[in-house]
Amino acid sequence: MMSVSLITKNVLLGIGGGIAAYKSADLVRRLKERGFDVRVVMSQSAMEFITPLTLQALSGHPVSSSLLDPAAEAAMGHIELARWADLVIIAPATANLLARINAGMADELITTTCLATEAPIALCPAMNQQMYRNLATQANLASLQSRGYTLWGPASGSQACGEVGPGRMLEPLEIAELASRFFATKDVYAEQESQPLAGQSVLITAGPTREAIDPVRYISNHSSGKMGFALAKAAADMGAAVTLVAGPVNLATPEGVTRIDVESAQNMLDAVMDNVDKKDIFIGCAAVADYRVNDIAACKIKKSAEEMQLALVRNPDILATVASLANRPFVVGFAAETHDVETYARDKLKRKNLNMIAANDVSVAGQGFNADANALRVFWPQGSQDLPATDKLTLARQLLSLIVKEKTK
Ligand code: PMT
Repeated sequence: MMSVSLITKNVLLGIGGGIAAYKSADLVRRLKERGFDVRVVMSQSAMEFITPLTLQALSGHPVSSSLLDPAAEAAMGHIELARWADLVIIAPATANLLARINAGMADELITTTCLATEAPIALCPAMNQQMYRNLATQANLASLQSRGYTLWGPASGSQACGEVGPGRMLEPLEIAELASRFFATKDVYAEQESQPLAGQSVLITAGPTREAIDPVRYISNHSSGKMGFALAKAAADMGAAVTLVAGPVNLATPEGVTRIDVESAQNMLDAVMDNVDKKDIFIGCAAVADYRVNDIAACKIKKSAEEMQLALVRNPDILATVASLANRPFVVGFAAETHDVETYARDKLKRKNLNMIAANDVSVAGQGFNADANALRVFWPQGSQDLPATDKLTLARQLLSLIVKEKTK
């Protein structure tokens, strides 16, 4: 369990009206276990799923549920609650609640508190998978994230409605752990004036590579570069001098980051080797093609035969090459797996002689390749840490905090 600073932090939990509300009681317990002072605000429909009395008993505070309750407003009104919170967690955040928060409505206590607070707000979506995938919900989430809201989850799996897919609320333990990590990261930031990577230089690879077949065709993969660019932005925000070697992607360069564009795995290796000298940290997030075409055709290949065969040869392994340098940086790899995630990730950690590896299960819908969210299982020789599903920038910050911690041990 991650420890929190000795100064008690105030967590305001907003409970929306979804079936996952039954998990809120456990969430309050888990947050209290970690030393947080917890107050609860419920929507009217949340009270159909769980009683305020249960949450009052667990949190040790009266539960607020109405904007128009003179007694509650006299004790701690919505503005006081909004000011009191160091962190607001909305769990479950239903599709309806997300839409109303996004619209800036002040029609009940949770939405009003979101408008009135200056505290960071973490949303834990919970809804049917089709409702989650709906473009309206996705647009609401994107808009909320662009305004600084943080997304914790959702997880993917079997749902209360019997369907399977993304939209499950994260487990209370995972949400409580994210809250602890949120404050721990904030404390590290505060201690080091928000710059835990000040004075450090970081080299990151991102995106796919393209391996030419002829002048008009290539072999590639679905990497969008979002994860690697999020790492570059987070590292720059944390004070590092960042060099980003990017495969062909359609993304803007994060402010303050030096970007080198490449096409093939060989180009990427060359750019990395030209820039790795004196780097403190290397993160290989690119989805590098393992093979390239042996003999690239000089002219466009014309279709003639019914079948054709391409002879492929192995590409150099950029990550392993960096890890084999005499004066090597702290080397972090990624592992994109569809099954046996831990086994394959640990094998890569050892075989490529890495300091750390961040594994993602790319078979999970809504995560990994070309998605805005991801979840990582991070392994290093003496330990491991799960980073549950969230947006890639939040995840990048969490991974970098882990790197800072392990590197300075
Ligand atoms: O770009 P996004 O759309 O945001 O998606 C993010 C991601 C899924 C691409 C990212 O999170 C990720 O998993 N990146 C690594 C993808 C990959 O190629 O994994 P791998 O298991 O095949 O490779 C293992 C490691 O070796 C990686 O660090 C890779 O960069 C490195 N490698 C692989 C082959 C090679 N020839 N050289 C390498 O350096």
